[in-house]
Amino acid sequence: MQISADTRTFYERIGGETVLRRLVICFYRQMDTLAETRPIRAMHAPDLGSAEEKLFMFLSGWMGGPSLYIEKYGHPRLRMRHLPFAIDESALDQWMMCMKNALSEVVDDEALRNELVFALHGVADFMRNQPESQN
Ligand code: HEM
Repeated sequence: MQISADTRTFYERIGGETVLRRLVICFYRQMDTLAETRPIRAMHAPDLGSAEEKLFMFLSGWMGGPSLYIEKYGHPRLRMRHLPFAIDESALDQWMMCMKNALSEVVDDEALRNELVFALHGVADFMRNQPESQN
């Protein structure tokens, strides 16, 4: 991958709050409708509203915008908060599928999309908490 010369934050480049909100709405719509992501949808509460708001608040700070999640809830401790859910490689792939589809719908800039996929994959990989099978 080419190193980007753009020094603006992800938050600025994506288009701030308005576009980030659209991204998160689209992300959970994917999770709610794709057959492939049924296993991770089932881990979530029936109403996705709270997850949507929390992901929006977290990503705002993670992308270099306002630290909404930390201001409200303190340190995210994301890996610890995900421990109740069995996150293996398949769950990771499902999460990334929702995110890639949402990015394709909401973000026009292909370079930005690729950088976000790369960076978010790192965060998602950190959430894995299941040993992989030895096949
Ligand atoms: C790797 C696959 C992942 C799976 C299967 C997964 C699954 C979940 C589930 C089941 C919840 C609880 C939702 C509810 O209360 O209904 C949750 C919460 C959350 N997830 Fe994930 N997640 C993944 C990756 C990520 C990543 C990569 C991020 C950040 C970029 C993230 C950010 C969050 C946040 C901020 C919350 C809310 C935490 C809170 O309770 O305050 N997740 N996730």
